[in-house]
Amino acid sequence: MHFLSTKDLSLDWLDKLERNINLVASPDNLLPKKTMISFFAEPSTRTRFSFEAAAYKLNMNVLSEPNAATSSSLKKGESLKDTFRTLSQYGDLIVCRHPDPNWIHEAEKWSRIPVINAGSGSGEHPTQALLDIHTMRKYHGSLENLNVMLCGDLKYSRTIHSLIPILRMYNCNIFMVPSTSQYEHHSLPDDLKNNEDCYVLTEDVPSLLSGMDVIYMTRMQKERYGNHENFNHFKLNAENVKQLKEKCCILHPLPRGDEIHPDVYEDPRAIYHEEQVKNGLNVRVALLRIMT
Ligand code: NCD
Repeated sequence: MHFLSTKDLSLDWLDKLERNINLVASPDNLLPKKTMISFFAEPSTRTRFSFEAAAYKLNMNVLSEPNAATSSSLKKGESLKDTFRTLSQYGDLIVCRHPDPNWIHEAEKWSRIPVINAGSGSGEHPTQALLDIHTMRKYHGSLENLNVMLCGDLKYSRTIHSLIPILRMYNCNIFMVPSTSQYEHHSLPDDLKNNEDCYVLTEDVPSLLSGMDVIYMTRMQKERYGNHENFNHFKLNAENVKQLKEKCCILHPLPRGDEIHPDVYEDPRAIYHEEQVKNGLNVRVALLRIMT
């Protein structure tokens, strides 16, 4: 009923979603009597707007709370139990973002209507993974056995955490390039620590670049660190992108920091600004259709 994680997805379900993307809009697949509640207790540009734009494309009603941390009753100390019980009375589906990675368990327990995880702290961001996967599939035709390099904040990037289980379902080869402070294996999240045989953790980026099909960059999640952290991390620049294959896409969930040099922005392989963002809207239309 809910969509909270990528860990329990099946290939059949992913195929069904893919078939629903770009389905021609007809009265049969609009949802005019349904209401989507978007409840965001952390900042968002793409995720919230694309969900809301997707709902409008489906003729849904939208109840939007972009500042739930400060202007909903969470601010007064209301529990997530009471919040989900209340929101369940006002709509047909809740799209929620919250800084506590465990809120999804509260949603499972207390919401009477389906909940979509739009970001659970440093835990997961499963709808971003759906659009990332769709973007890779469109670009390469198939996902099987792609060589995918994941760069940046392995510890706190929820987009990476949600992407890995799907990449593994399609037998992708995963190369992870963390910030220097995260080469210490113990700094990785448990899921990654416990599945060490499924990826290569590497510092040797230059020798690998030419074999990659996808470069997935992420920013350092500065807001989740103390001030003392070292943010030394791999950066893509005009020089090292020369080593990439002609058919290698550069993706980024955005927002970006300094991990991609401005020289790279015009590279035709850098498809994060238009293609990836546009795919986010289409994937969310399909997801809302499937879930309501
Ligand atoms: C990401 C997020 O919020 O997790 N952005 C997004 O939703 N597109 C990435 C980030 O914040 O770095």
